[in-house]
Amino acid sequence: MPADCQTFYVTTPIYYVNDAPHIGHAYTTVAADVLARWHRQRQEPVRFLTGTDEHGQKVLRTAEAHGVGPQEWVDRLVDTAWKPVLETLDVSNDDFIRTTEPRHKERVQRFWATLHERGEVYQGSYEGPYCVGCEEYKLPGDLVAGTGELEGQQLCPIHGRPVEMLAENNYFFRMSAYAERLLELYEANPTFVQPESARNEVIAFVRRGLQDLSISRSTFDWGIPIPWDSEHVLYVWIDALLNYATAVGYGSQDAADQALFETVWPADVHLVGKDILRFHAAIWPAMLMAADLPLPKQVFAHGWLLVGGEKMSKSKLTGIAPAQIIDTFGSDAFRYYFLRAIAFGQDGSFSWEDLHARYTAELANGLGNLASRVAAMVGKYYGGVLPEAGPAGPAEERLAELAAQAVAGADG
Ligand code: ME8
Ligand code: MG
Repeated sequence: MPADCQTFYVTTPIYYVNDAPHIGHAYTTVAADVLARWHRQRQEPVRFLTGTDEHGQKVLRTAEAHGVGPQEWVDRLVDTAWKPVLETLDVSNDDFIRTTEPRHKERVQRFWATLHERGEVYQGSYEGPYCVGCEEYKLPGDLVAGTGELEGQQLCPIHGRPVEMLAENNYFFRMSAYAERLLELYEANPTFVQPESARNEVIAFVRRGLQDLSISRSTFDWGIPIPWDSEHVLYVWIDALLNYATAVGYGSQDAADQALFETVWPADVHLVGKDILRFHAAIWPAMLMAADLPLPKQVFAHGWLLVGGEKMSKSKLTGIAPAQIIDTFGSDAFRYYFLRAIAFGQDGSFSWEDLHARYTAELANGLGNLASRVAAMVGKYYGGVLPEAGPAGPAEERLAELAAQAVAGADG
C-alpha cells in the first residue's frame, strides 16, 4: 500500500435532469470510473461520486413543459434513466447524490448561513443577459450574434440560443475579492487546472477581473430556500457545486459524517467537461476560500463529443443514448472506445464507422486473436494447463521492463 494512504476522491459533474443521459455524460462518468478502478487496484482507499443536479429554471421549465411538478419530474427521470445508465455502463461509484435530498439541502444551507454571517454575502440588484441552458449570467463578450431566423439576437455560444434579459433584487457573494488569491493558486499550483488549454482559459478569465456573483433568485421557487430570507432560493450553481462536499459529510452534525469529511476531503480530481470549467476552477475554489475549507487538488476539463461539428447536447436533442452502442458492442467495448479514440482533453467526433473499425481491428482482431491463440497453444502443447514460468531471458526481461514502465506512466 502506498505510504500516503489518504482516500483518492474523484467526482463527475452532477448532471441536469432536464432529459435522459447521452454518451457525453457517459464519457465523463466512464473516465472517472477508470480512475477510480485504477486507484482501487493499487490498494488505495477510493471514493467515487456522481449524481444529479435537480434545481433551477432549466429543470423547472422542462417539468412544466411536460405538465408535471418538478419533484415528480426529477424523481421519475432519476429512477428510470440516470441511475440505470450507471448499470449499463458498469460504473463503480460509491455514492450517488441528488441535490433534492435532505442531506444536501441542510448542509448547503449551513454553508451559506456561515458565509452570510461572515459578511461574504450582501444584498443588491443585477440585470443582464442570462442563458437558461447554462444557468449563467453572460458577459457581453461571451455572446455571439444570431444569424438567419435569429438575426438581431444575442446567442449563447454553447447552446446557440438567444439569451434572456433578467433583472433581480438578490444576494451577492463577494467573489471579486478572490481574484488575486485565485491567480496565486493557479500560479503556485500549475496542475490545479488541467489540461494546459483549460488552465490558460481560466487564468485569462480571472485576469479580466471577477464580478460579485448573484447567488439567489426570487422569481421562482424551485431551489433551496435561503436560510435567512425565505423569499429567495439559492442560485442553482452554488447549490450544485457544494455536492462534492455535502456528499462526503460537510455540514453534517453527525460525528461519523464529520469523520468521513476529514478523511475524504479535499477531492483529488473533479472531472468536468470544458463547458463548466469556470464554475469549477474559479467560483468553486472562491467559495471554499471564503469558508476556509481546503481546495480540491485538481479540476480536469475534458473536451466535447461532437455531432456534426457541434457539442452533443440534451438541449439540442443531438444525444445518442449509451444503450444504443452498448446493446451491440457491450460496455467494455464502449469504455475502451471512448478513452482510446479521443485524446483526453480534446474534442472528438463520434462516428459509428470509427467505433466499428476500432472494435474490429483493435479488440476483435488484435486483443481477441492474441487471447485465443495463447489459449489454443496452451491447450495444444500443455494439455490446457499453463506451465510454470521458466528463467527469464532477455525477451522476458524486456517485456517486464515495458510493463513496469506502463504502470509507472499510467500512474503519473
Ligand atoms: O452542466 N461531450 O450539467 P449537464 C462531452 N448540472 N461531455 C459532455 C457532453 C459532450 N457533448 N455533453 C455533456 C451541468 N457532457 C451541471 C453541472 S456540477 C456541480 C453541475 C458532460 O447535464 C460533461 O461532463 O449540462 C459536461 O461538463 C457535463 O456533462 C454537463 O452536464
Ligand atoms: Mg449542459
